[in-house]
Amino acid sequence: MRTILNKSNNNSAIGFFDSGVGGVTVFEQVKKLLPDENYIYFGDTKNMPYGEKTKTQLLEFADNIFRFFERNGAKAVVMACNTTSAIVYEELKNNYNFEIYPIIQSAAKKISELQISRLGVFATPATISSHCYRNEILRHNNKIEVVEIPCPKWVKIVEDGLENTPAGKLAVKEKMLEMSNFKPEKIVLGCTHYPYLLETLKEFAPRETFINPAIEFAKVIKSDLAAKNLLNTTKSPVSEKFYVSANPEKFKNSASIFYEIKELPQLVKFQPAHA
Ligand code: DGL
Repeated sequence: MRTILNKSNNNSAIGFFDSGVGGVTVFEQVKKLLPDENYIYFGDTKNMPYGEKTKTQLLEFADNIFRFFERNGAKAVVMACNTTSAIVYEELKNNYNFEIYPIIQSAAKKISELQISRLGVFATPATISSHCYRNEILRHNNKIEVVEIPCPKWVKIVEDGLENTPAGKLAVKEKMLEMSNFKPEKIVLGCTHYPYLLETLKEFAPRETFINPAIEFAKVIKSDLAAKNLLNTTKSPVSEKFYVSANPEKFKNSASIFYEIKELPQLVKFQPAHA
């Protein structure tokens, strides 16, 4: 994490992005810790699921979104998306004029401090193939055995609001059965969409088994912004704005499990890279 900004920008917004409603699980945690900030959230619903995209596609999506935040004068951007943190953060991290916080790299240290020997990770196919979770955790603690399992169906289930349907429950059951062979002491929900499935996950293992990295991530963001004197200290009223690349109503409805968005998100369309 670099320090880039001058202090006149302290009341500029903190940007969040994800492929859809998943990042709202991070936004909600950060907003609880930092209620006096301005926020902009971008959900790339047109291009989700990110977990099945190539690196080239993810680089283009993320670059478009970072430039959107640049145009909106953000002072920091939260990669509230495990997949882009795993696949494109390293390549893009020095390209923009704001602080960038990637979820996996920010939360891994705390996870690695758990006094356990077997850790499960559920995440998107792209995140699992990158082994970003395993590598980041082992970098801090090589005594933990990490088993990573991709859950390709889960993001669509959440985006479509199907968490409590038979199909939603079956998709969760299949993966919990697969994971149970490993007998994990804890399981990381390594995709920001997965906390929406907690009600069903709890039917297969105690609630405390599941780790939502957003909780630790929010603390890291707060302390880093504070250390760099980037917190908003002005007394003016704050705002939160939501933007999506498709389906604003669906986004608002699906997000409501975690956060009640007041106004309908605005639609944003980026120009194709090679138009
Ligand atoms: N929620 C994102 C993540 O944390 C991306 C999910 C997707 O669109 O596949 O990985």
